[in-house]
Amino acid sequence: MKNALILKEKIQRKDVTVAIVGLGYVGLPLAIGLSRAGSRVVGVDTDPQRVAALEAGQSYIRDIPAATLAPLVQAGRLTATTDYAATGAADAIIICVPTPSTRMKAPDLSYIEAACRAIIPHLHPGMVVVLQSTTYPGTTEELVRPLLEQSGLRAGRDFALAFSPERIDPGNPHFSAHNTPKVVGGIDPDSTEAAALLFGLLVPNEQIHRVSGPRAAEMCKLLENVFRSVNIALVNELATLCNRMGLDVWEVLDAAATKPFGFMPFYPGPGVGGHCIPVDPYYLSWKAREYDFYTRFIELAAEVNSTMPAYTVGKIAQALNRQGKPFQGARVLVLGAAFKRDIDDSRNSPAVEIMKLLRTRGAEVTYHDPHVAEVLFEEGGGGNGVMRSVPLTTELLATQDCVCLAVAHSTVDTGWIVKESRTLIDATGVTRFLDGDQSHVIRL
Ligand SMILES: NC(=O)c1ccc[n+]([C@@H]2O[C@H](COP(=O)([O-])OP(=O)(O)OC[C@H]3O[C@@H](n4cnc5c(N)ncnc54)[C@H](O)[C@@H]3O)[C@@H](O)[C@H]2O)c1
Repeated sequence: MKNALILKEKIQRKDVTVAIVGLGYVGLPLAIGLSRAGSRVVGVDTDPQRVAALEAGQSYIRDIPAATLAPLVQAGRLTATTDYAATGAADAIIICVPTPSTRMKAPDLSYIEAACRAIIPHLHPGMVVVLQSTTYPGTTEELVRPLLEQSGLRAGRDFALAFSPERIDPGNPHFSAHNTPKVVGGIDPDSTEAAALLFGLLVPNEQIHRVSGPRAAEMCKLLENVFRSVNIALVNELATLCNRMGLDVWEVLDAAATKPFGFMPFYPGPGVGGHCIPVDPYYLSWKAREYDFYTRFIELAAEVNSTMPAYTVGKIAQALNRQGKPFQGARVLVLGAAFKRDIDDSRNSPAVEIMKLLRTRGAEVTYHDPHVAEVLFEEGGGGNGVMRSVPLTTELLATQDCVCLAVAHSTVDTGWIVKESRTLIDATGVTRFLDGDQSHVIRL
């Protein structure tokens, strides 16, 4: 229990410095949480703009108000830098860098690798290193461990090494770092205990769930995301079937959701987006092939979910058809560009995919999103397109041949949109809660 004991004593003396590597949607809230819990936190990020913003007490993540951040920066409890030398003064390092996939859907671990290489010169005995980026089972032991051991120090003997999945749900007002249980799995019992002590700064001990090792913790995160992907795909498939059968899938889902046991409602939509659901399951299917195993559920779910933007565009075609209009030259307004409600993140957003599809069909597309000022996307021929959010007015709604509600942010007045739109495609299902004439509304 050597490394865990060193950390325990530091925590008891309230003398802990934690380095957070990667200050994004995951790293920044964690940095704030640990800093508020009394640790000194140094954030290391390769993006100088993010570092400069943090140093000035400014937040670049919508969920995090500057009023939360600035006092911690002013008090010197939270600092940021691009220089990895700062990790040398830390008792613990938590790695929260991106884990995207390549165009061929293979894991891209280059960010984790770069972070580990940069940590090597600053690793010291007694340190606790935790990987928190989502990845396939085996990454901590097969990639991170050998890289960090290039320092000459041995994991388990000289420093603790663990994996702990991140469960943050940006935009969720009910669950944050303080009340979401943490799963930890170290390469040995000492490492598990050290990681548990570290996250014990954020959540009570009874909310820390220890597993046998990093691989179980890595798999736990992928299970959580595959579970969502598969269930979303199931309802998306049912939505398209209900449509053919002349049934309202929302009515069916609301009815099924009255069952108090054995059923958990998931809802259809224009597709899945973000950094997790469209990406993480592929990490597992890629790793599974090493074991001659084909993860059919994962591939099938991804396939079904990836058809939903085109399915939504099919609904827009139906609406235009009713007016005797082709796509070419039709004015279509897409409401929402974020990948889900009440967030400002448009990575892999199905709403953006819908805009791309509409543009390639010749429609005049505009979008409005109070949280996403502009979207960039690849267009045919290797070029990049850019679109900017337009103000949402009665005049704008009146001039559109079709309005597509792709994301129902809570600040957007849906009743007013229904009233002012000529034709509305509701990909979110929220209009089912509204009264009044909806003869011009088409739901998925
Ligand atoms: N966003 C979520 O809701 C969420 C939820 C659970 C898990 N995750 C996982 O957490 C990890 C981080 O995701 P995120 O959404 O915070 O990503 P992000 O893109 O918002 O932030 C990552 C940050 O890391 C920085 N960075 C990149 N390379 C670096 C390096 N070598 N050294 C230091 N900093 C570096 C980037 O500049 C960026 O600020 C990913 O593995 C993701 O799958 C994300």
